[in-house]
Amino acid sequence: MCGIIGYCGPRPAAEILVEGLKRLEYRGYDSAGICVRSGGALRVHKRKGKIKDLRAALPDRVDGELGIGHTRWATHGEVNDVNAHPHTDATGRIAIVHNGIIENYAALREKLAEEGYRFVSETDSEVIAHLLASLYDGDLERAVKQAVSLLKGTYGIVAMHADEPDRLVGARNGSPLVLGIGDEEMFLASDVTAIVAHTKQVVYLEDGEVVSITSADYHTTDLRDRPVDKKIEFISWELEEIEKEGYAHFMEKEILEQPESIRRAIQGRLDMEYATGHLGGLNMSRQELLNVERVKIIAAGTSFYAGLVGAYLLESVARIPATAELASELRYRNPVVERNTVYFAVSQSGETADTLYAMRELQRKGARVLGICNVVGSTIPRESDGGVYIHSGPEIAVASTKAFTSQLTAFYLFALMMARMRHMGIESGLSFIHDLEGVPALVSEVLSRRDALVPLARTYAGAGNFLFLGRGINYPVALEGALKLKEISYIHAEGYSAAEIKHGPIALINETTPSLFLVTDDGLRDKVISNMKEVKARAGKVIAIAVDGDDEVDRIADDTFFIPKTHELMYPFLMVVPLQLFAYYSAIELGRNVDQPRNLAKSVTVE
Ligand code: F6R
Repeated sequence: MCGIIGYCGPRPAAEILVEGLKRLEYRGYDSAGICVRSGGALRVHKRKGKIKDLRAALPDRVDGELGIGHTRWATHGEVNDVNAHPHTDATGRIAIVHNGIIENYAALREKLAEEGYRFVSETDSEVIAHLLASLYDGDLERAVKQAVSLLKGTYGIVAMHADEPDRLVGARNGSPLVLGIGDEEMFLASDVTAIVAHTKQVVYLEDGEVVSITSADYHTTDLRDRPVDKKIEFISWELEEIEKEGYAHFMEKEILEQPESIRRAIQGRLDMEYATGHLGGLNMSRQELLNVERVKIIAAGTSFYAGLVGAYLLESVARIPATAELASELRYRNPVVERNTVYFAVSQSGETADTLYAMRELQRKGARVLGICNVVGSTIPRESDGGVYIHSGPEIAVASTKAFTSQLTAFYLFALMMARMRHMGIESGLSFIHDLEGVPALVSEVLSRRDALVPLARTYAGAGNFLFLGRGINYPVALEGALKLKEISYIHAEGYSAAEIKHGPIALINETTPSLFLVTDDGLRDKVISNMKEVKARAGKVIAIAVDGDDEVDRIADDTFFIPKTHELMYPFLMVVPLQLFAYYSAIELGRNVDQPRNLAKSVTVE
């Protein structure tokens, strides 16, 4: 989704802005632009398309040490040069970049137009530039505070004025903004990846806060001009982590990183003496944990599917009733918050608007909401009542992979902990730990077999539709496999419980609609095999992901990919990896943009 960068310092701003925008590319965007103050005037360069198009359109030399930049993911108005940010007022003395959606822009636009302000774009954002022009009296910071007080909706904004050569002003409501503190230079960004190459000292803005920066200094206030004391935090990510390091795509790199990322999510969180999990950030006393009678999980997309696995696990291992629900749905159905219920908000980015607003709705009703997030310092972990960081490292590819397996890890640790506080004995606890600790090596083993998926992807890349079918704890994995395939290859794919196909989807089966079955060696295996036969009987092609040695499945399926044997509860980790790779190789076969699939954004900060 849209990205922001701002620079104030002694260095040429344009290169820093463009390089920062390049690092924000992963969020998904359709146009990009920068504005640099040069020779006392503001110079805007913006383009529909990729950063390389913007770069190509820039003059050989762009002077100026103050500037703002933006990658736009269109919401209001088509994708074209005019609608790209930065937007200026009619005099060209004020420029702004904006993430989010201004809900009352139509009314503001009408009023400003009546006052003579001339609009050139179709965006909601442009209204902010004209509003600032109407309020500016020589003090940009004051004008920003007055302007944002009139806005309804969500925003992360950075503004600059040609008359203020060493100042940028940022404001936040519902769309992230972070200040980077450098050596005699300051940065503003929507996401730390844009500035991590320059500084690791950051200050995260909260909703309702405004930051004013010069190259040497900054101060933060609320909208009523009261100073707000902010903590300086340190980014632990290294620059290399957000670079491809020789891999063809970030997605490939991130899939291959999973043995390590799962290990990191487990690290320091097992208590071998008591054979239990240890999650320090939950902020819950032993008694509060013992009192938990129900767990509810909210999330979106891939994180929701991780939540479905988590709910299954909590019921089967910890015997705690647990459900997962789409955050976007929960928010608007006036949920009942029950006593002794713990909620989890699961989000890789920690910024997903649907999940964030659902969390706030629950908290408003008195719920305790814990976060399971990857991005340290993002909004959901900051606003949650406690939680677990999954420590996957930056996930840059739009399609989520390593975050999914690390989110699962967090649930496995929590389930173990809750089970050990209830009915689970020490021996079973140790055996669960043994199985969980074995997962990274088994994932490595799956990865070592990945070449076998390349011809499979080639064979089926021409399919127009795909079914992904699994059961039990692997049913959500089938949903995730289908999501991965459709996201990056654009092949239409649906995930179902294998049992459900006879209730409808079987009507789709013919020789051109393949079905991919997840078959494990648990109590549901024989039923899944029956479903495979039903598909075969209707001339459907069958691909199976099966456990080593399952010759029967191999005989029925047209193609089989084998994974190593493990405990039945650990299969989601091993099953999802070939599905991620299958989607990846299919997308490559079809020549898709793997890391930045069309229309998608990494961090979905609008509803
Ligand atoms: C799928 C994908 C999305 C996200 C969803 C939630 O590959 O990336 O479905 O999982 O937008 O995002 P987070 O986890 O950041 O809340």
